[in-house]
Amino acid sequence: MPVINRLADRAEEITEWRRDLHMHPELQYDVHRTAAFVAEKLKGFGCDEIVTGIGKTGVVGVIRGRKNGAKVIGLRADMDALPIEEETGLAYASKTPGKMHACGHDGHTAMLLGAAQHLCETRNFDGTAVVIFQPAEEGGAGAKAMIDDGMLGRFKIQQVFGMHNYPGLPVGTFAIRPGPIMAAADRIWIEIEGVGGHAARPHKSVDTVLVGAAIVNALQQIVARNVDPLDNAVVSITLFQAGFTDNVIPQHALLRGTCRSLKTEVRDLLERRLTEVAQGVALLHGAHANVRYQRDYPVVVNNPDATDFAISVAREVVGEGRVEPSVTPVMGGEDFAFMLQERPGAFIFMGNGDTANLHHPAYDFNDKAIPFGTSYWVRLVETAMPA
Ligand code: NI
Repeated sequence: MPVINRLADRAEEITEWRRDLHMHPELQYDVHRTAAFVAEKLKGFGCDEIVTGIGKTGVVGVIRGRKNGAKVIGLRADMDALPIEEETGLAYASKTPGKMHACGHDGHTAMLLGAAQHLCETRNFDGTAVVIFQPAEEGGAGAKAMIDDGMLGRFKIQQVFGMHNYPGLPVGTFAIRPGPIMAAADRIWIEIEGVGGHAARPHKSVDTVLVGAAIVNALQQIVARNVDPLDNAVVSITLFQAGFTDNVIPQHALLRGTCRSLKTEVRDLLERRLTEVAQGVALLHGAHANVRYQRDYPVVVNNPDATDFAISVAREVVGEGRVEPSVTPVMGGEDFAFMLQERPGAFIFMGNGDTANLHHPAYDFNDKAIPFGTSYWVRLVETAMPA
């Protein structure tokens, strides 16, 4: 069975929701309008139970099938936008300066709402579907906040599934892989303390700009010389702050950045070597480096059985040859990883076509993908819990 006809017919309505959400982007946990929009729609659909305020501003809807089976499956969408000034020029562009749905979470929310509407109407399954709308995917660990609020136990969720649109993959295709599919994303801070002084008397100072530059260079050797060439890792320094003027050697410098990895042992290695190299290089120059390594989102690890199941459902929706079952992992992070640490499940990429990249000011979620993503959710529930 390809795309569900009824959902294709409804794409226009779901597109309207998507564009409404797009016009009103909200950041992190401050997704009050979006959460209210979601809760109101779920109520209108006749969801059996709607709970708001989980993980601060998350929303959960419970939809019971026509038979009272014990199986419970969680489907998750994210609701938050990004602090980016939109440059799409679209009629439904963001109405809030400096905020934008540049990761397609507007589309994710609208598609899961579309699926919830259909599931509420048809109830053609034996068990319970739990639709999860989370805040703060973009760096705020909203998924973890909902877990910490007891969501998985409270709704007896046994398996979890997630989806993200993927620019560059054609519309009407899916891509997934068993095991690690997205990276652990960690944050680093390196505070360098030297000796400030007159720029014309460098021999009386310890120059934190020079120390910082040496550290930035040396850190690149971790991936080149310490990580196994067959493993994957990223070390990026993305911020270098020092000084205020041209005749003073600054006493302090700050480096910030991110480390990415797909395996625990590589993550451990990055943390250890980053600290050793930064401190060692600082010492070499007579400076001191204070290193903070913060483990943020874990690796997104797809359960093999759940992945096989997701592949079979996706193939049913878009056709055999339009599902890539062993996509190359990406080094981006995703807090759905926390849910997959607690429950078996799978995270799938859905083609967004030839659009600007995620987090780009010209990005827009592709509404042509709506029937595919929505049908995937519905068929996943109906296939996992046949009536
Ligand atoms: Ni995203």
